[in-house]
Amino acid sequence: MKLQHCYNIEDLRAMARRKLPAPMFHYIDGGADDEWTLQRNTRAFEQYSLLPHYLNDVSSADLRTRVLGCDLSMPLMLSPTGMSRLFHHHKELGVARAAARHGTLYSLSTMATTSLEDIADASSGAKMFQMYIFRDRGLTQELVQRCKQAGYDALCLTVDTPLAGNRERDRRQGMTMPPRLSLKSFLSFATHFDWALHLLLDPDFRLANVAHRVDALRHNAMGVIAYVNSQFDPSITWEDAEWLASQWQGPFVIKGMSSVADARRAVSIGATAAMLSNHGGRQLDGCPAPVETLPAIRAAIGDKLELIVDGGVRRGTHVLKALALGANACSIGRPYLYGLAAGGEAGVDRALTLLRDEIARSLSLLGCRSIAEVGPHCLHELSALAPVLERADA
Ligand code: FNR
Ligand code: LAC
Repeated sequence: MKLQHCYNIEDLRAMARRKLPAPMFHYIDGGADDEWTLQRNTRAFEQYSLLPHYLNDVSSADLRTRVLGCDLSMPLMLSPTGMSRLFHHHKELGVARAAARHGTLYSLSTMATTSLEDIADASSGAKMFQMYIFRDRGLTQELVQRCKQAGYDALCLTVDTPLAGNRERDRRQGMTMPPRLSLKSFLSFATHFDWALHLLLDPDFRLANVAHRVDALRHNAMGVIAYVNSQFDPSITWEDAEWLASQWQGPFVIKGMSSVADARRAVSIGATAAMLSNHGGRQLDGCPAPVETLPAIRAAIGDKLELIVDGGVRRGTHVLKALALGANACSIGRPYLYGLAAGGEAGVDRALTLLRDEIARSLSLLGCRSIAEVGPHCLHELSALAPVLERADA
């Protein structure tokens, strides 16, 4: 199968599955415990229907919007994901370049395999750095300074990972970083020749932003769960978040919230935006889907925060539903990682092109000319659909 024969994100997922050794594919694809939240993230969009309004001159579709002080070409950005080198040798650089070409924001993870400076050199697009607070607090201060120097547009603190979620697929597959040629993974590596060859040619696997201070991987490969639990500081609080915002002094995002109470705290510490997120169902299984948490949070905080829906977005129509419910934008993780694994930078391009086209086409079919025109009148909860249609008929 070729990239141009991938017609949606699910096709890219199928291609990624063929290209990657099993431990790498399941690391991307999997979630915590029973993966109830992982599945709900996408299924929750089915609770809402889109209500088109016709004969509205939709000869052009304006997808532009402004989030975190950045002009974006569409209301869809790229979430931070760790260790892209596991999936393709183009790693974070390929993803950041593709995001910049598409005029949207790329988020670089603390757990990335490319340094924040190399990303800044390679991409003039909008950039956010995602922070995990390590037990080594000096590292946090250093990262903030480096982000300022490198000209990052925004800083984000992920709050849903005080410790690692229970990813049973990773345990079963023996997922380690760097990849370890255990007897179990040998067959899977051997049958994925391209991937294995590139790892042999360039075995440099480092958590490029933190390795100089946190050397846990130098002598032995370890699982992500073990690494996170040994290095992340589980004692951080809202005071630490406020301190980080004050150090940064620019657009600041709290990522990983589900509750109205946390959204209010984010407002009180001066955050610019909240990413409504459960880490793609990889942390606490049983969390609600981000899109379900959106209406109550928007109602509670008004326009005091920008709200970004992160999790489960696989279609342009999902983005439109989130916008109609009050989101400023959506963000994606796995969709671009499937693209990266399927075809490197060109695969990320394919994922972003597919989603952009879906957003544009669906916007016109909905009867809107611009993102700003998408509002509550475009959407109904499914249970409310019957009376609405009756009213319209009357
Ligand atoms: C993630 N995510 C994540 N989040 C974060 O704040 N820092 C990180 O390092 C990572 N790493 C990471 C790795 C992989 C392989 C995945 C799939 C996800 C979570 C990510 O930012 C985002 O919240 C979810 O991916 C959103 O859900 P979807 O779009 O994957 O459904
Ligand atoms: C994950 C960590 C890296 O989700 O955030 O795998």
